[in-house]
Amino acid sequence: MILLEGLSKSFNGVKVLDDLNIEFEEKRITVVIGRSGGGKSVMLKHIIGLMKPDSGKVFIGGVDINSLKKKELNEIRKKFGMVFQDGALLDSLNVFENVAFPLRRHLKLSENEIKDKVYSVLDDVGLEGQDNKMPSEISGGMRKRVGVARALILNPEIMLFDEPTTGLDPIMSDVINNLIISMHNKFKFTGIIISHDISGAFKTGDTVAMLYNGKIIESGTPEYFKNSDNRVVSQFISGSMEGPISI
Ligand SMILES: Nc1ncnc2c1ncn2[C@@H]1O[C@H](COP(=O)(O)OP(=O)(O)O)[C@@H](O)[C@H]1O
Ligand SMILES: [Mg+2]
Repeated sequence: MILLEGLSKSFNGVKVLDDLNIEFEEKRITVVIGRSGGGKSVMLKHIIGLMKPDSGKVFIGGVDINSLKKKELNEIRKKFGMVFQDGALLDSLNVFENVAFPLRRHLKLSENEIKDKVYSVLDDVGLEGQDNKMPSEISGGMRKRVGVARALILNPEIMLFDEPTTGLDPIMSDVINNLIISMHNKFKFTGIIISHDISGAFKTGDTVAMLYNGKIIESGTPEYFKNSDNRVVSQFISGSMEGPISI
């Protein structure tokens, strides 16, 4: 479904991605974990074509996206829903209009069709009755849910989540992780989650992969991952200062 092949990217002479290889399975959830500043968001930006690699390829459904013309890339982008780290809501629009935004932009629907779709997805994410609130009036966890609703509204084949639980307390993190699982069960998208929340990764991921020094150094089921004898992986999982990861 999504394949990153030999991806390398440097900024100002510093290699952030270094011959990175990973395949994301169709209709599964893959969680990519790694340290802050390790290149996780950079990897996501390559997947949606917001960044171009110095070398290597990004295949979406067998198509090398960097060989496409702008118009063709825009078509591919419609397959994606993206939940940004900070929610990226439009502060001047209420919850309803934030969620309706992609519909108004991409589809020509009647006002009634828009209402049906928006109310339905707001129900799905547990925000019924919140449609008139402004982003500044709701909690961080609710803003994340608005971000999820907006990403889901075009029923995308692929959902990308950039640190969906960062900045939330453990209980709200669990609520969001459960929401991702139930939305995945309902909509069956191919999911890629970037996270440094280890317990969330084990709970939501069919596959867990670790990005370290610009490469994917381990990848497998949560059970496989937990039992990895890679010392970098075990240090990261245990959150210990002691080990091969330099600080
Ligand atoms: N557009 C950019 N220009 C220059 N440096 C960048 C750019 N985007 C990311 N970086 C650098 O790449 C590194 C990885 O960033 P990022 O992917 O955001 O990390 P994270 O794993 O925390 O998401 C950081 O050192 C960051 O400063
Ligand atoms: Mg990031």
